[in-house]
Order: sequence, then structure tokens, then C-alpha cells
Amino acid sequence: MGFNCCWRNCIMKINYCDALVIGGGLAGLRAAVAAQKKGLNTIVLSLVPVKRSHSAAAQGGMQASLGNSKMSDGDNEDLHFADTVKGSDWGCDQVVARMFVHTAPKAIRELAAWGVPWSRVKEDADRHGLITSRDFGGTKKWRTCYTADATGHTMLFGVANEALRNNVDIRDRKEALSIIHENGRCYGAIVRDLITGELEAYVAKGTCIATGGYGRVFKQTTNAVICEGIGAAIALETGIATLGNMEAVQFHPTPIVPSGILLTEGCRGDGGILRDVDGHRFMPDYEPEKKELASRDVVSRRMIEHIRNGKGVPSPYGYHVWLDISILGREHIEKNLRDVQEICQIFNGIDPADEGKKGWAPVLPMQHYSMGGIRTKPTGESQNLNGLFACGEASCWDMHGFNRLGGNSVSETVVAGMIIGNYFFKDS
Ligand code: FUM
Repeated sequence: MGFNCCWRNCIMKINYCDALVIGGGLAGLRAAVAAQKKGLNTIVLSLVPVKRSHSAAAQGGMQASLGNSKMSDGDNEDLHFADTVKGSDWGCDQVVARMFVHTAPKAIRELAAWGVPWSRVKEDADRHGLITSRDFGGTKKWRTCYTADATGHTMLFGVANEALRNNVDIRDRKEALSIIHENGRCYGAIVRDLITGELEAYVAKGTCIATGGYGRVFKQTTNAVICEGIGAAIALETGIATLGNMEAVQFHPTPIVPSGILLTEGCRGDGGILRDVDGHRFMPDYEPEKKELASRDVVSRRMIEHIRNGKGVPSPYGYHVWLDISILGREHIEKNLRDVQEICQIFNGIDPADEGKKGWAPVLPMQHYSMGGIRTKPTGESQNLNGLFACGEASCWDMHGFNRLGGNSVSETVVAGMIIGNYFFKDS
């Protein structure tokens, strides 16, 4: 077999495995756990130590229709499905969305068993101790389950520990440069070792790309510097695998200015509000019913519209508006929004629990999520290149269509990882 890549004549170390997962965030690790548990010899390659993957930056929560909290009474898969389809601007693949909502409640319970310390219902005799949920935009019920505002972080540690427990071979500081393929079939990847600089070949029966999104192609983004879309790029360079929905890009309303670090939608879900240059709460003027919890594309557009109407706050970085969570009180912030508090303190020198204007954080919509990616079938396999799979933000599995609901992305990573890992190589 010849390698269809420009390093074909190099002498390089060749590694063999059954399942090669490129990307060590939530999606990649969950797929690896599934593959390894099926008895496949699985290798995960990651740019960074996996517990530092960008999944750790997800704050607000994971949607799953458990219906445990008072405000989620009566929730079920059908409501989650309806919200997801409507939220996607009716652009998602409904077969995938159905699979997703059906699996999410199982995935979250599995994560609890793996040690993720979900925030729980308290002070309600009947429900005490059950996994609780908070409000997020675009959902009929409070469905976003969380661990304070560090949900991605705790999930990532839980899944990474499970991968280690199952002896998944995790190799970090490895950068995939090119897909190996011949006659319409993928056979692995050419990879650079970022410590030695050497090139290596990883030859696999099946390869899954889970490298996250491409937010860093934008000037202002919540994405970490590693989110450059390398997975989509090397898939596209095969000339065979296709990408889908690349124009579908989501902006988050409340990254902090100027660094772009996320201040979670949970801030508004818990009751935080947006104020303009006059301190006026402007969202009810535009969206009287949903206010700050209209879906995030709507809130982002309204914020920009309001700034264009002359109501933005001038700053050396351009205009912004204010996010006010001080009204939630110090006790709530220090329990449920403590990462937000720390980010405001470290990056802007403000304490959002301080009363009045002193605690307001400057925010502006910035790129947040890539709905597009490697176009796959519902099984997670590329529509065009056999043996190549993709999951998580790197993929266009198409459960988000043109607008992802907040809380549906970390949920997607573990659900897709679970499903795709199980389908992995079925036909190989
Ligand atoms: O605001 C947030 O916590 C983001 C969540 C998400 O993008 O799902």
C-alpha cells in the first residue's frame, strides 16, 4: 500500500492500530472509550495534554431531558427533539437529532457513574439528590444539567479518566498533517511529533477526526488557539471527503471584552441581564417574551442592533454592552458562577459580585461554535471516504443545522462519541 501523501518517500516510524482517534477532547475520548471497550486497539492523538483540550472551556452545561428539577417537570425526549429541530432553524438531520435526544439522558447518567459531580436538586424532599438543571436559551424546559460553571472541565476529566482506566493509548503533542488514503478508503494519518519534530505514520483500520471547530479563523472568538480546524482541513485535502455547512457559524452573546473568554449563557439562565451605555436593560424592548434568553443568535443580533442604534459603551476595543450578574447576589455567584467570577477578576480586574456598575462585565458577541465540518452519515462515517469518521465539533453530523442550542454541544460530544465509537468499523 502506498501512502497518498507528499511524505511518501520519507523513512518514518509506522504505528499500527485498529482505531485511530485524532483529537483528545470530549468527543474523541468518548469515541475512544467506546472503541476500546469493543476490543479494538485504540490510539488517541492530541495536540495538547488531553485534560487541557478546549472541551474544558465549556461552562454552562449539557442538555439532557431528565426532568428532575421543578422547572423541568414534564420534560422528555420529544420536547428536546422539538427544541433542537426548531433551534436548528429546521436545518438539522432529524434522524440524527432523534438519536441524540434519545441517548443524552443515558450519556449523562453514565458520566455520573464515571465520577462527574453534577449539581443536584436540594431542599425538595421528593427530588433531593437528583441531577438538577438550569435555564438556557431556546428551550421549553430547564434542561441544561451542569457542574456549577465548569461543566466541560468536569466532563473532560471524567471521560479522560475513563479512557485511562480502559487502557486507551493516549499520545499528546502530536499534530495530524495528512490523511493516508487509497482507492476511496482511509488508512490512518501522517503525524508530526511536536517534541521531536519527527514525522510518523499511524496506520489504522478506521480513523476518527475529533479535532473541534475552526473558530480561530475569526479575529474574535471564544475558541482556544488550538481550534484552527486542522481536522476539517486535512479531510478536505484528500479531495474525496467533503465538508458540510461551513457557512453555519455561531456567535455567542457574552464573551468578555477584549480577551473573548466565554462568560456562560448560565449567567443569563440564572437571571443575569444585559445593560446598555445608559445602564438600561434593553433586551425586553426587542424580545419581550424571552428577553436575554432568546436563542443566542437572536440575542447576538439584538446586541449589535442596539449598539448600531448608538447605545453601545465606547472602549479602546470598540463598543460593547454590559453583563450584570451582580443582581444574583454574591452567594449565588460564588457557588454557581465561580469560574465566571474568576475570569472577570483575572482578565478584567472586576468582581462581578460587586453591587452596581462596579460589577458589570463588558461583553460583545464573538464567534463561538462551528456547526459545519466533515460531512458524515448518521453513523459518523464520512459520506465519501470509507473508514474515515468524524465526531463532535469537527463534524457535520448535522444535528445542529444552522444554529446550535446552548448546552447541546458537550451533550453532542459524548453522545456522538458513544454512538460513533460503537458503529466504528462495523463495515470494515
Ligand atoms: O454559554 C455557555 O456556557 C456555552 C455553552 C454552549 O456553547 O453549549
